[in-house]
Amino acid sequence: MKNWELEVNNELHQLADKDLMRELKITLHAANSVCMRDGKKLLNFSSNNYLGLAKHPLLIQAMQKAEEAGSPSSRLLVGHEDATHYLEEQLAKWQQAESALVFSNGYMANLGVLSAFLNSRDAVFSDQFNHASIVDGIRLSGARSFRYRHNNMNHLESLLQRASKKNYRRKLIVTDAVFSMDGDIAPLREIILLKEKYGAALFVDEAHSVGTMGPLGRGLAHHLGIADQVDLHMGTFSKAFGVYGAYVTAKKDWIRYLINTSRSFIYTTALPPCIIAAIIQSLKVIQKSDKSRHLLHRKSMEFRSELTKYGFDTANSSTQIVPIVIGDSFQALTFSQKLMEKGVLAVAIRPPTVPVDGARLRFSLMSSHREEDIQKAIKSIIQIGNEYGVIR
Ligand SMILES: Cc1ncc(COP(=O)(O)O)c(C=O)c1O
Repeated sequence: MKNWELEVNNELHQLADKDLMRELKITLHAANSVCMRDGKKLLNFSSNNYLGLAKHPLLIQAMQKAEEAGSPSSRLLVGHEDATHYLEEQLAKWQQAESALVFSNGYMANLGVLSAFLNSRDAVFSDQFNHASIVDGIRLSGARSFRYRHNNMNHLESLLQRASKKNYRRKLIVTDAVFSMDGDIAPLREIILLKEKYGAALFVDEAHSVGTMGPLGRGLAHHLGIADQVDLHMGTFSKAFGVYGAYVTAKKDWIRYLINTSRSFIYTTALPPCIIAAIIQSLKVIQKSDKSRHLLHRKSMEFRSELTKYGFDTANSSTQIVPIVIGDSFQALTFSQKLMEKGVLAVAIRPPTVPVDGARLRFSLMSSHREEDIQKAIKSIIQIGNEYGVIR
C-alpha cells in the first residue's frame, strides 16, 4: 500500500504544479441566477439551468406528489410504471421520431449508444471537441476512431474517404449539436451531405440545444429542418429541462436494439418516479417556453457582442454558452478568482476538458438573468481583463 500512497500523492502534486487541481465547493442555490458561496451572493454564470426550470413550481409539485422515493430495479427486471411509458411516447411525439428511450443521464446515454451500435469491425468519425462521454463511449466500443478537426468538413471528408478503402461493417458520424465548452454549433447540413455520400449513420448529442433551440424547443436539427435525417438523437434532462436524466430517439427497431444491447441501459436501476414526474411536467413547460428561449438568445447575444467589442476571444460562440479563451490555466484560475471577488461566478475550464493552452472562463446565460446583473458582470469582466492583459 505504501507505493499507492506515494504515487497518488505524487500525481496530486503534479496536477497542482500544473494548476490543474480541481476542488469541490459548497454552493447554495446552484441552479439559480444568483447563488451563495462562503456566505457571499454571486451572480451565477455557471449553471446549465438555461430556462430556469429547476425552480419551476409545477416541476417541484410533480416531484412532491410522487408516491415512491426510489426505483426498485432495472427496467428489464420488474418493468416500468405507466408514467415512464407515457414520457417515452411524449418524447417521441415531440421529436417527431418513431421511438424514444429514457436513460439515467447523458453520460450513460452516450456510452450506451456508442458501445451498443459499434464494435471493432466499425468506424466512428468524431469531432475533436465532442463531449467526454462520447470519447469514452467510443473507447468502450472498440471501434476504429477517426477524430476530425473541430467542425472541419474537409477533414471529415478526407477521413471518410480513407475509411472507405477498408471494409468497415458500420460507419457512424457523431457530433455535439452545441459544443459545451465553445458554445458554437455543428454544421449539421454539411455533415448530412457527407453522411449520405459515404453511407454513414449520424448521431447528434443535443444536450445543450434541446429546450433552447428550434420550434417547441426540439433542438438544433429541428431548427435547421433536417431532423428526419439524423439517425440517433440524444438529449439531456439535466440542462434546459432543469431535472435529471436523458433520452435517445431513433427508429423503432434501433430503440429495440438499444433495449437489448445497451449495457448502460440494461445494467442500472431505472430513474425514480419523482424524477420521471418532473420530466413529464418539464416537457410540457418546455414546449410553451418560446418567450424564455427568445430572452435567452437575446441576452446571450448582447453579452457576447459586448465582450467581443471589448476584444475578448469568445471563440465561435453563437449560443447561450460564451467562453472567454485565455490560454494559460493559472491565468484562467486567477481571472475566475478575481471575478468571484467582484461577485460573479464563472468557472475556469482547464485541460483535459479543453485542449492544452485552451484554458478559458465559461459563462452560461440563463433566461432569468436580470439585465442589470448581466451589465454588472460585463463591467467586472472588462475591468479584470484590462488589469490582467487578457483583452486581445
Ligand atoms: C454535450 C454533452 N453531452 C453529454 C453530457 C452529459 O449529460 P449528463 O450531465 O446528463 O450526464 C453533457 C453534460 O454534462 C454535455 O455537455
